[in-house]
Formats: sequence, structure tokens, C-alpha cells
Amino acid sequence: MMDRNADAPWSKFDPEAYVDANYRSPLEVDLLIVRLMRDYFGKCFEDGVPRTGRGVDVGAGANLYPALSMLPWCEKVLLLEYAQPNVEYLEKQASPAGFDTVWDPFWDQLSAHPAYAAVEPRGRFGEIVRVERANLLDLDGQRRWDIGTMFFVADSMSECPDEFRRGVTCFMGALTEGAPFATAFMKESVGYQVGDHRYPAYRVNEERVRESLSDWADDLEIHDLHHMVREGHEGIILALGRRNSAIADT
Ligand SMILES: C[S@@+](CC[C@H](N)C(=O)[O-])C[C@H]1O[C@@H](n2cnc3c(N)ncnc32)[C@H](O)[C@@H]1O
Repeated sequence: MMDRNADAPWSKFDPEAYVDANYRSPLEVDLLIVRLMRDYFGKCFEDGVPRTGRGVDVGAGANLYPALSMLPWCEKVLLLEYAQPNVEYLEKQASPAGFDTVWDPFWDQLSAHPAYAAVEPRGRFGEIVRVERANLLDLDGQRRWDIGTMFFVADSMSECPDEFRRGVTCFMGALTEGAPFATAFMKESVGYQVGDHRYPAYRVNEERVRESLSDWADDLEIHDLHHMVREGHEGIILALGRRNSAIADT
């Protein structure tokens, strides 16, 4: 029996254990991803587009770097997340107390670019970021965003091929035409442990990622990063591109 998204213990997801395992000591691959996103978004907006876009990070979990990478380009950023403990973690990060220092090394990479250097990240994050509990698989294209990120979600929420494809389609369907996006996947993941609980994954490789995105994307750039961050996967795949004009049927 394959584990479907609804079967996994999302209400028991432990954000602190997740941050400890993945982000508290920044990994070279995450810093590399942040630089690639920074340069890609910087290139997309090099004509000096004002900060009027609305951004979304889908399945934000306990990771702020995708949202941080959208800060200079947005007047609002929405973090959509399904697991209640992660929603609470994100609300705390967006509160007036400011986000935890654990996220500073990621901002340090971003701020090497002038558009990011002009932003005061803690103040701006608290000002423009909002959090909402939502299910990716319920996004039906009614609400759309001008820039979007989705990191380790469509591949890391279910073992089912149809839910992976649907997750990607729902994300792409939530972007406006021309919207820059960044999305990342654990390559060939067999599932993962967070604290005391096990979570499902669908095994993807570069070809599956390309195939799932190519109907919805222009200028698709796929980076197959051969960094291993734990047992049970074979690297990380980062996809960058712009939403095309195709109509997603979600
Ligand atoms: C491996 S974590 C990735 C978290 C974060 N984006 C990151 O980059 O580390 C998978 C995330 O997907 C979220 N998730 C699982 N099913 C979801 C769904 N149906 N809709 C939205 N988020 C979901 C989980 O709660 C968790 O935060």
C-alpha cells in the first residue's frame, strides 16, 4: 500500500527537530540553492520592477529561505502550510519579535546582491509575510501569485505518482503568466524522518521533474545538484523558470 498525503502524521510534524536536522548548521547545498535563486530572481527583475508583486511559498514548513529570496520583489508574501505545528512556527517567525538567527546565514548569501542588500530583512519579513493553513492539493487556480516557491513538498508529501503530479500542477496553476518560480525536490528520496515520525516521498529524478513542469514553464532551468544531505536520497534537484500561458486543469 502506498502512503497517500492524507495518511502521513502532519499534525505531529516537529519544526524544531526539522530545523535542527536541516538548517541549524547551514549546508553548502542550501547556500548554493539560495545563490542560484537570488541570481535567477535578480535576472528576472533586472529592469527594476517595483515591489508590487505578491509572492507565495507553498508548503513552507520550517524553512524561511524561499520566502527570504522573494522579499525584494514583493509587497506581500504568503506562506501556505498544511501542518499545524509548522503554521505556528511560521507565525512566530513573522511576529514582531523577528525571525530566528538561524536564518541569518541564508540572508547573508542573498544580501550579496544589491536588490537584497537594500532590504532590512527582519522588519520587512514581519511587515509583508503572512501565514495561512492550506492544502496544496486544494489550490484550484482561483488565487494566483506573481512569484512563487515550493521546496521539497510535491515530492515529500506522498508516495503516489498522481499526488506528486497534482502537487506540481496545483503549484504551477497558482502562478500568474510570466511569474518567476523556484521549486526543489529531493532526488530519489525513499521518505524521511522528523523527530519520532516518518514521512513519505515519491522518488523523482531530473527527467520526472522536467516532465512534470515542462507543460507549465518557459525558460526551464534544471540544476541536478549531487549533494547528499542524509541517507535515503541521491541529491537535490532545483528547477527555475517562469510560468507560461498554459491553462492548468487542477
Ligand atoms: C519536507 S517538508 C519541506 C518544508 C520546507 N518547504 C523546506 O524547504 O524545508 C514538506 C512540507 O510539506 C508540507 N505539506 C505536506 N502536505 C501538504 C499539503 N497537502 N499541502 C501543503 N503543505 C503540505 C509539510 O507539512 C511540510 O512542511
